Amino acid sequence: MRESSAVSERNRYSENRRRSDKAASYDVKYEQEFHKRVSDRREKRLLESILATAGSHERMLDVPCGAGRLSGVLSRFADKVVEMDYSFPMLELCRQNAVDYVPQMANGNVLHLPFCDVAFDIVASIRVSHHLPKREDRLNHVRELCRVSSRHVLVTIFDEDSFKNRLRKFRTALWLKKKPKKTLSIGELRSLGDECGFDVAGSWSLSRMFSGHSFVLLRRRAA
Ligand SMILES: C[S@@+](CC[C@H](N)C(=O)[O-])C[C@H]1O[C@@H](n2cnc3c(N)ncnc32)[C@H](O)[C@@H]1O
Repeated sequence: MRESSAVSERNRYSENRRRSDKAASYDVKYEQEFHKRVSDRREKRLLESILATAGSHERMLDVPCGAGRLSGVLSRFADKVVEMDYSFPMLELCRQNAVDYVPQMANGNVLHLPFCDVAFDIVASIRVSHHLPKREDRLNHVRELCRVSSRHVLVTIFDEDSFKNRLRKFRTALWLKKKPKKTLSIGELRSLGDECGFDVAGSWSLSRMFSGHSFVLLRRRAA
């Protein structure tokens, strides 16, 4: 495969985050920008309360971990955490930022997880679905998460039915220079979960008015 087509397949966003400067800017952006600080605090509280409903687990996969922004919360709910990202600089920042737990690090693509089936008890995949340009990849991403989890999958999506997305669609239709968001719907996750042997245990919007991001918790059905 030619390098340029390989890049478009993996997508420009993923490639960008592999650069040290871009990784470093992500590491501090949630501290530097006011609205990001507010949404970060809210997101961590929400994440904590969702994980509390799912309970503690032995083996957790956090993919993509980024610079470890959420690792402090995630690691409180598992004995062992594998931090995985496509970007080596992000992994290095995540390792440096790890406090109170010892992460195992892995490099790879969310679309082809380098783990065997049911290798983890819980898999968290926060804020990457909406960076995958193709809908088919967004669906395959969730299939991969389900494949490697024996109990829970916690994934965020940019919700097709959210107020933010409806507004975005309206502005896109009016040619207000807004590109459509890369969405999925809770209904799609329900069907996908069904196909993989999971039920949707709950879904939570980060903010009904101000964010299109939703957390969706999938739980594997008893055999
Ligand atoms: C917005 S950050 C989210 C990181 C973390 N979950 C958080 O919420 O802070 C997205 C991360 O996804 C990683 N990434 C992008 N595409 C990826 C892919 N195809 N496979 C694995 N990681 C990917 C980037 O390197 C980046 O660290």
